[in-house]
Amino acid sequence: MEKVVTAQYLRSVFKDKRVFVTGHTGFKGAWLIQILHWLGADVKGYALAPEKDNDLYNLIDGDRFCYNSIIGDLRDLHTLQGELVRFEPDFVFHLAAQSLVRRSYDIPAETFMVNAQGTVHVLEAIRSLPKPCVGLMITTDKVYENPERGTPFKEDDKLGGYDPYSASKAAAEIVVSSYQRSFFNAAHYDTHHKAIASVRAGNVIGGGDFSDDRIIPDIVRALEFGETVSLRNPDSVRPWQHVLEPLGAYLMLAAKMSERPVQFSTAFNFGPDENDTVTVEDLTKIFLQRFGTGGYKIIPHEKPLHEAKLLLLDSNRALDMMGWKPLLNATQAIQLTADWYANKEQDAHTKCMQDIQNYFGELQ
Ligand SMILES: NC(=O)c1ccc[n+]([C@@H]2O[C@H](COP(=O)([O-])OP(=O)(O)OC[C@H]3O[C@@H](n4cnc5c(N)ncnc54)[C@H](O)[C@@H]3O)[C@@H](O)[C@H]2O)c1
Repeated sequence: MEKVVTAQYLRSVFKDKRVFVTGHTGFKGAWLIQILHWLGADVKGYALAPEKDNDLYNLIDGDRFCYNSIIGDLRDLHTLQGELVRFEPDFVFHLAAQSLVRRSYDIPAETFMVNAQGTVHVLEAIRSLPKPCVGLMITTDKVYENPERGTPFKEDDKLGGYDPYSASKAAAEIVVSSYQRSFFNAAHYDTHHKAIASVRAGNVIGGGDFSDDRIIPDIVRALEFGETVSLRNPDSVRPWQHVLEPLGAYLMLAAKMSERPVQFSTAFNFGPDENDTVTVEDLTKIFLQRFGTGGYKIIPHEKPLHEAKLLLLDSNRALDMMGWKPLLNATQAIQLTADWYANKEQDAHTKCMQDIQNYFGELQ
């Protein structure tokens, strides 16, 4: 596979840089801090404590990849602002969120506060930072109003969101857009020196995810208990991606923003190839075949909740502006993930580093 994001390039940008990561104790955050540490960056994390003993952050002993790990709430502007400004970051990756669709139906108010108001707080903190900074606001492919026509979404398509999670992330996008125009306007970059972008990627898979209500963790839990995997939405099509795809894209974009802030301070989709669509049922089959054991059954919804069946992203802006394209197809991403869980010999960090070094081209 042709590498578009190489370790050499990223190291030249991130080595000895200060990087503030919100949500570092989450699934994507735990992968990101390992990459940043490997690239030679100083990472300060800000998030709630990991929820479970087997969260990836705990499995890798994530504190050792952070210069400083702050357990704090996004809703606490004062603390967040103090921690961010004191660190004087060169880069901010804002990943922290109430990230689960089904949970958002149980705690909609909290979901909106964390995802929308929390994004306001991160941007406020960046606004009060008296130095240049690149900030990436991580939202999701679910920010688009989705009539389920099967047409891939472009960055300027209408925002919306049926469930509270999607709507809260669409609201976060509107917040970002307002701050971009009002306080971090690219036309006046020389006065504020802040480059802000929002990034939208799809459902990620990869080793070490043990979250509730996500397909791979559900499969892994069933396998561990010797149970048959139960599928709620077998026909749903998601832009499945290995977690390293969006993380590599975020890092590449942040690097480009540090070089050409005016040009790159916009919104970007980072999705898989539009024709590389896999249903939940196909994903399960590929995973179980690679894992070498287990079966599945389709179960009716006990309490049907609306979840989009079809979601596709048009990532041509990323291709045109920075030559970014996915490196792994869905089958490769699923197999890589199955291999991570099947490997009981090595510890979680060693397994992550093998995937990271392979992906960024250092083990070729
Ligand atoms: N995992 C996916 O498939 C996926 C897909 C699209 C977008 N995203 C987005 O990517 C980001 C990271 O996703 P993830 O899978 O790592 O999520 P995750 O749920 O594993 O982690 C969420 C992180 O946010 C932190 N957090 C939650 N509430 C907080 C609060 N009130 N204050 C401070 N920190 C808080 C948690 O402590 C954790 O570190 C999120 O913004 C998510 O919406 C994820």
